[in-house]
Amino acid sequence: MKYISVAVDGPAGAGKSSVSKAVAKSLGYTYIDTGAMYRAVALFAINNGIDAKNETEKLVSRLNEVEIDIKYTDEGQQIYLLGENVSKRIREEDVSVGASNVAVIPEVRKKLVELQRKMAESANVIMDGRDICSYVLPNADVKIFLTASAESRAKRRYDELCEKGIECDFEKIKADMEYRDKNDSQRAVAPLKKADDAILIDTTEYDFDGAVKLVKDLILEKT
Ligand code: C5P
Repeated sequence: MKYISVAVDGPAGAGKSSVSKAVAKSLGYTYIDTGAMYRAVALFAINNGIDAKNETEKLVSRLNEVEIDIKYTDEGQQIYLLGENVSKRIREEDVSVGASNVAVIPEVRKKLVELQRKMAESANVIMDGRDICSYVLPNADVKIFLTASAESRAKRRYDELCEKGIECDFEKIKADMEYRDKNDSQRAVAPLKKADDAILIDTTEYDFDGAVKLVKDLILEKT
């Protein structure tokens, strides 16, 4: 059976995950958050005292120990690292910055991309990340590049963390986001960039429901 795949790329805080999650729920697709996988690897580094930026070889030599499991519950996608549910912990700022650092390591990308492609083989999926349209699922049925202004992305991330009860500081989030934007767009391997055949959606002027409708209508039109 041929399953439908929808690829969504874009910078941090553009609303990729919340929009993709809502669209997946409404269409009965499986939502796959690839950023959470990079975050889990970053958390593995933090938990083991490995500085992912300066001790790349050390992290690579222990990559075979990194076991990531994804389970779907009523509360959505849950990420397990070595059997522990880390879904909340991986949203904290130290892990966000760490994820951007581990994401430049080719061996990390190889391991996670294999897992992502395998997941897309057995269900209708909406997968979001940075390199999904161009690299992970180049034959996706629908390709979307979701973005928004830097200021509104930082504000959304701030509101999201506050809502989850995670302590945060707006200026720090904005600075971390700028660091990640730069790191993600300028890296040699799989840089963040709109694929030529992806449809650009700028959500700066849309509220959440408006963005969900836009993406859902596009998928229904294309599949
Ligand atoms: O999407 P999210 O903010 O959770 O991603 C965390 C980090 O993981 C990003 O800043 C990016 O460096 C990396 N990432 C990536 N490729 C993906 C998904 C995320 O490089 N497909």
